[in-house]
Amino acid sequence: LDRLGELDVVTDAALLVDDGRVIWSGPSAQADTEVQNYLGEATAHGVNDDDIVNGEVTSVSSLGDVEVIDLGGKAVIPGFVDSHNHLIFAGDRSEEFAARMAGQKYSAGGIATTVAATRAATETELEANLVHLLEQAKRQGTTTFEIKTGYGLTLDDEIQALEIINRHTNESTLIAAHVVPPEFKENPEGYVDLVIDEIIPAAAGKAKWIDVFCETGAFTEDQTRRIIDAGKAAGMIPRLHANQLTEGGALKLGAELGCASVDHATFASDEDLKILAEAGTVATLLPSIEFSTRQPYPDARRYVEAGVRLAIATDCNPGSGFSNSVPFAIAIGVRDMHFTVDQAVWAATAGGAHALQRTDVGHLGAGARADLAILDAPSFRHLAYRPGVQLVERVYSGGELIA
Ligand code: NIG
Ligand code: FE
Repeated sequence: LDRLGELDVVTDAALLVDDGRVIWSGPSAQADTEVQNYLGEATAHGVNDDDIVNGEVTSVSSLGDVEVIDLGGKAVIPGFVDSHNHLIFAGDRSEEFAARMAGQKYSAGGIATTVAATRAATETELEANLVHLLEQAKRQGTTTFEIKTGYGLTLDDEIQALEIINRHTNESTLIAAHVVPPEFKENPEGYVDLVIDEIIPAAAGKAKWIDVFCETGAFTEDQTRRIIDAGKAAGMIPRLHANQLTEGGALKLGAELGCASVDHATFASDEDLKILAEAGTVATLLPSIEFSTRQPYPDARRYVEAGVRLAIATDCNPGSGFSNSVPFAIAIGVRDMHFTVDQAVWAATAGGAHALQRTDVGHLGAGARADLAILDAPSFRHLAYRPGVQLVERVYSGGELIA
């Protein structure tokens, strides 16, 4: 599973799960033997094949219950690893979306609308909104979530956002440098100082990742470099919002700063792609953002040819794209960004895991978390073939049914 699109597809497959982890996965003809081996001790105490019955829970003396679930030929895929989300916010920007569909251009300026609504909300309201969005996304098959701050933009609001995030995921990202907030309009450097001198130190130990929106209308390359360096010094790993709206130097900068991932990467020169490939930096493409902003779709084939490792994520946020459905992102990635179906499904699972530097998610090999999406479909291909259809039927996280 190291290379984009390299899927290890097993037909007529079985999975053995214990204690939230995949113990074994492979052809179902081998399953009984694997279970027997795993239960070696129990077998010695007199358990035989008859105790393991399709579709029923049976008792296995010394090791408790073995539950056998017959999925009747439905496709099972790893839960999606959605490596880019902005889910701590209040308010609604559906009018801005409607205006865009009527011809308005997307700009970073809209973020200020959400900042005002977020600052006015209580912690309870922000967390309830987050939980609601997470529940929706789980029903769409997502089991790993990265979540960013970035709509508070004060010391207290950003730290509060991290505390909420940390109650729901380990993949927490500080993006206090999302835009310069209105009160620093005349003094952007003053805000960069606040981020570096106060917010980052207070976020140390609370954020796994540091992120900056490096873009015209947000933060310059020089400011980005200083903020990322401060984040790294505080123990955070860098990632960037890079080249979303313009072909600037943010992709090169991301590679140079050792970012795990550069996200959006909508505008990328051949030289940018070469540098990303050489640095091993993941480029996380966000199909539902181009869908919702009417920016041009990047062509995934160029990135693949250049040898860039790719991920797909939703970037769910109230402004540039309010979809938390990975299947939707996969369908657009295939149709409009020219991912093959195999590549898109890989990018939304194994690719997301690479972007988050995780080896325990995004695949179903032995040792992986038992994070599974069961599809009401005979093949994972249906995710792109049947867009807009609720194909995710059941979802397990760490072996527990969550949706
Ligand atoms: O990833 N580009 C910066 N941040 C978000 C959009 C935020 C917003 O418009 O509210 C993004 O697209
Ligand atoms: Fe984003």
